[in-house]
Amino acid sequence: MKYLDIQTPIVEVQEYLASNGHLRTNEQILAIEKPGEGNMNVVLRIKTNKRSFILKQSRPFVQKYQQIEAPLNRIAVENQFYKTVQGDVLNEHIPTILAYDDTDHVLIMKDLGEGDDMTSLYKSRAIDTEILKKLVQCLSLIHQNDVPSDFPDNLKMRQLNHQHIFVLPFEAQNGFELDDIQKGLQELSISYKKDTAIRSVVGEIGKKYLSHGSTLLHGDYYPGSWLQEGENLYIIDPEFGFSGFAEFDLGVMVAHMIMSTADENYLNTIHNLYEGTADKKLTSQVAGIEIMRRLIGLAQLPLERTIREKQYLLELARKMILS
Ligand SMILES: Nc1ncnc2c1ncn2[C@@H]1O[C@H](COP(=O)(O)OP(=O)(O)OP(=O)(O)O)[C@@H](O)[C@H]1O
Ligand SMILES: [Mg+2]
Repeated sequence: MKYLDIQTPIVEVQEYLASNGHLRTNEQILAIEKPGEGNMNVVLRIKTNKRSFILKQSRPFVQKYQQIEAPLNRIAVENQFYKTVQGDVLNEHIPTILAYDDTDHVLIMKDLGEGDDMTSLYKSRAIDTEILKKLVQCLSLIHQNDVPSDFPDNLKMRQLNHQHIFVLPFEAQNGFELDDIQKGLQELSISYKKDTAIRSVVGEIGKKYLSHGSTLLHGDYYPGSWLQEGENLYIIDPEFGFSGFAEFDLGVMVAHMIMSTADENYLNTIHNLYEGTADKKLTSQVAGIEIMRRLIGLAQLPLERTIREKQYLLELARKMILS
């Protein structure tokens, strides 16, 4: 497997792409850039004399924290996901796949332009109604696809996520130094970790997350997977995709809207906009769990909030989990 990254000399990338038939006649790489923030994989913007495209490569570990193992075939999941969801409306909102190389775990896709992901929502604390509608519409369209029988079960990625969503955040001695994130957060977290009613729901939904369902999920439907470029809106990074239950994606989305705005009505709004069958109570429970794990777990967000604001969100999350 040829490892490529931002440090790889242009001649080597040129040689790799040319020898695998990924370049056009007389196409020369002029520059290689980092298109945006990411932790898991190598993502490069390749600028040539003819065009610009994105190269994404997975590794048997997390690119940013290389001591942490991660399933290599996540890039195959991403490729399969994009191939599966292609359809008239959704095509405008996902990158076209230009090539996929199974041997080197490389996906080459259309450059969607120099937009930003939507994590700025945590700062702006508000979302445009039309954008929200589009995001729910895209999710509905994704979920409406039949899951191909050979779609990867993506179990190793789910097991990784399961630990970080449903297990570690709720363990009393998980080794996370929450006070290093924000003073007072450790003490605030205790009552939620100790709550046996919460733990029981979390355990149950965690099991559901690990079992097979019938809906094609994006698997990571949050602002980091939404790109805005001018008027355009794109959904990227489906490496956690699998065949599961719709309320998982919906709940995650609801959680991030509530964390951004502190407005619990997003549960109803998103549930009502969704074109498909979903159990609102289950969506609410997933959302509550996602809010909690983002506040007291390891996978923290750029969410600048006071301890009081976090307490408000955690209480809301408790109510949503126990609804
Ligand atoms: N097709 C594309 N066109 C333009 N920019 C892109 C494209 N794909 C990715 N990017 C940019 O690169 C960033 C990282 O991509 P992506 O989220 O797919 O990587 P990742 O390694 O899986 O990240 P994470 O660790 O957050 O899961 C995106 O946030 C975006 O800014
Ligand atoms: Mg990713």
